[in-house]
Amino acid sequence: MKDFIGISKMTKDEIIEVLDMARELEKNPKPDILKGKIIASLFFEPSTRTRLSFTAAAYKLGANVLGFENPDVTSLKKGESLNDTIKIVEGYSDLIVIRHPEIGTAEIAANISEKPVINAGDGANEHPSQTLLDLFTIRKEFKTLDNIKIAFVGDLKYGRTVHSLLKAMKLFNARFYFVAPKSIQIPDKLLKELDDMDISYSLHENYEEIIDKIDVMYVTRIQRERFDDIEEYKKVSGIYKIKDTDIIGKTKENMIIMHPLPRVDEIDVSVDNLPNAKYFDQAKNGVVVREAMYILALKGEK
Ligand code: NCD
Repeated sequence: MKDFIGISKMTKDEIIEVLDMARELEKNPKPDILKGKIIASLFFEPSTRTRLSFTAAAYKLGANVLGFENPDVTSLKKGESLNDTIKIVEGYSDLIVIRHPEIGTAEIAANISEKPVINAGDGANEHPSQTLLDLFTIRKEFKTLDNIKIAFVGDLKYGRTVHSLLKAMKLFNARFYFVAPKSIQIPDKLLKELDDMDISYSLHENYEEIIDKIDVMYVTRIQRERFDDIEEYKKVSGIYKIKDTDIIGKTKENMIIMHPLPRVDEIDVSVDNLPNAKYFDQAKNGVVVREAMYILALKGEK
């Protein structure tokens, strides 16, 4: 398991291996295990949690981090190609974490680099480290990943966290509810994957109609930056605004609300103090999960 490019490339056993290791690291930290290693962190798109938690994870294991959070300060600005950039960075580091607005960039980087590559988000495609921390959070709450009823709410067309989590949860026999306006519903290609595995799902425009049925409500931001036409964005922006009164007394008692964050206005702050709200715990879980990813990616590397 050298690279982490997408959940679509992982088996169920590999997923469980990461989650088990993260659980172990939570109990027994390993402050020196990556001593002397250098992690390259290449962010071509804005990030708060992903970049900082990948950095924190490296420090917690004794590794050092170099990189950039904005490509404008690099030679890419002078016209250097991404391929050359990767070739150079690979000579300075032991592992590359990359986030890029274009689909497939992490895979391209992995093909160029001899060093392991972790995808920190490639356009609207995949976000595997987010999914692993989402799964870690779900497993912690329910003590299992099997047979979970999960609703995805928000931008299901462009949301890469949704795409990756769907690919993972289908391996654990989830029941899916997709809640979105028609223009940003889940892509047919992903529904076909569910059809091929005979997995049940349904499409909805309102969460009220399914809120009493689900174990997990996974809410996402409308991905403004991915819309070609801003008018299309305006039609759906602000469409869901979940408040405490939507939740209290209306859901299963142990239903959890997740969000990869950042949120804009889709979850009101009145929800934050409900025991159901897990999005801040989720973000925190990102550190041990990313520690586990580093250890497994670097296993066997010199
Ligand atoms: C997500 C992303 O970048 O895809 N953020 C994150 O990594 N936690 C979700 C988003 O930006 O809406």
